[in-house]
Amino acid sequence: MSPPRKGASNLLLLLLLAILSCRFAESAIGVNWGTVSFHRLKPSTVVDLLKENKIGKVKLFDADPGALEALMGSGIQVMVGIPNELLSTISSSVSASDLWVRQNVSRYMVKGGADIRYLYIAVGNEPFLTSYSGQFQTYVMPALLNLQQSLTKANLAGYVRLVVPCNADAYESPSLPSQGAFRPELTQIITQLVSFLNSNGAPFVVNIYPFLSLYGNSDFPQDYAFFEGTTHAVTDGPNVYTNAFDGNFDTLVSALTKLGYGQMPIVIGEVGWPSDGAPGANLTAAKVFNQGLINHVVGNKGTPLRPGSPPMDVYIFGLLDEGAKSVLPGNFERHWGIFSFDGQAKYALNLGQGNKNLKNAENVEYLPSRWCVVDSSKDLTNVANHMRIACSVADCTTLNYGGSCNEIGVKGNISYAFNSFYQLKMQDERSCDFDGLGMVTFLDPSVGECRFLVGVTETKGSSSSKSSSSFIGSRRWMISIIVLFIWAVQLLMM
Ligand SMILES: *[C@@H]1O[C@H](CO)[C@@H](O)[C@H](O)[C@H]1NC(C)=O
Ligand SMILES: *[C@@H]1O[C@H](CO)[C@@H](O)[C@H](O)[C@H]1NC(C)=O
Ligand SMILES: *[C@@H]1O[C@H](CO)[C@@H](O)[C@H](O)[C@H]1NC(C)=O
Repeated sequence: MSPPRKGASNLLLLLLLAILSCRFAESAIGVNWGTVSFHRLKPSTVVDLLKENKIGKVKLFDADPGALEALMGSGIQVMVGIPNELLSTISSSVSASDLWVRQNVSRYMVKGGADIRYLYIAVGNEPFLTSYSGQFQTYVMPALLNLQQSLTKANLAGYVRLVVPCNADAYESPSLPSQGAFRPELTQIITQLVSFLNSNGAPFVVNIYPFLSLYGNSDFPQDYAFFEGTTHAVTDGPNVYTNAFDGNFDTLVSALTKLGYGQMPIVIGEVGWPSDGAPGANLTAAKVFNQGLINHVVGNKGTPLRPGSPPMDVYIFGLLDEGAKSVLPGNFERHWGIFSFDGQAKYALNLGQGNKNLKNAENVEYLPSRWCVVDSSKDLTNVANHMRIACSVADCTTLNYGGSCNEIGVKGNISYAFNSFYQLKMQDERSCDFDGLGMVTFLDPSVGECRFLVGVTETKGSSSSKSSSSFIGSRRWMISIIVLFIWAVQLLMM
């Protein structure tokens, strides 16, 4: 081989490598976009936030028209959810299923429309959750079969995949990943499900939460939840596990293998770490966990049972804090966002999608810069009742033990509650009265990490910025051009 040719083949190799790494790393990280918030950003602001951060995949919890319209033309791949209430109807009626697909999927899948790749059956998102004690299980397969028919009729069956996100409790963990198996009472339905997924080329979607393992179990070794190495590695035959995520993932792989589907692709539907509202939930821990996870995934390390082959996609939970979520699971439930409710990054994070750091939402429309605080010159004997009422509606979760505002003192507590309520009421003057105990201030009362929020103006149902170019589309173009180029180089070398 002559030297120039060798140069050319080296170049070829480099380009091939570039393409391969491009392909594997391509938008493997997505986010969950939940909207249970008192202060919702405009959908177009959220879509711009996704684009700015080069986030190419998003999972919604429903089929919200505002969100889907804003996503049209963005090139961002969308996973859409079907809410619980509809499951029984869709499972018993093909025409209901047809209608739902027409109104909530087909409508957006026009040229330059939304790129809906997955449709999922929700049921609180996790139909097999132990706490549902089986009440939804019977709907799952009939609903899937009806929806598949509807997708076929709509000519979408080759593109949109039906999936069913499962909580990791579907395969309640034994101590060793290799012993993983689905819960016995679920074996039949899961067998039907994976066979259905497999015949449609769909992945198994699972939600994995090392935080909840740690939160719910004081014996759980803390460092095993993270990706920084552990003093509690789990040895499973020839395999050694140094983090809960891999252990959990391989438990699922083992469970799937026992059903004969050991090769089934796996997508992580939800994974993340809250930053507030519990002792183990803080900014440092959330940053360390999420960054460790992302590096682990985009580094293509895989797990002991699937070396070099990480989950297809990983959807971080979540994009934004959702201050109106139920706190039944714990006060941390309102603090899972990598961004606060108003699209401001909580900590530095490299999503591995090209940007070194998170970019904040732009053009957020805030209410005026003013806050409601307690007037401490007043007699505060009766303040407790006001505070209780304010916090029963507005979000006061950060005041509790382990929260970022836990140490701001009695008056700080009262002011925080008053302000949360005042902002929730869109700064309505009367909402800062509290029988004369409240007063409006123009000085930000935030202390340290404890942030007194200012609401954003709610503009519901407003529709979207429809930018024509898509950054993902353009990347695909670039790859095509490189492929053509390589092909030309090859021709020349022949
Ligand atoms: C489905 O689409 C209709 C029409 O756009 C909309 O009114 C409805 O909210 C959507 N349903 C769900 C469950 O998202
Ligand atoms: C943050 O959380 C981690 C574990 O999740 C804990 O080890 C650490 O002590 C917490 N930091 C603070 C300042 O509370
Ligand atoms: C502030 O409120 C929280 C939550 O009710 C409580 O845990 C904390 O002790 C309060 N702080 C003071 C100084 O009363």
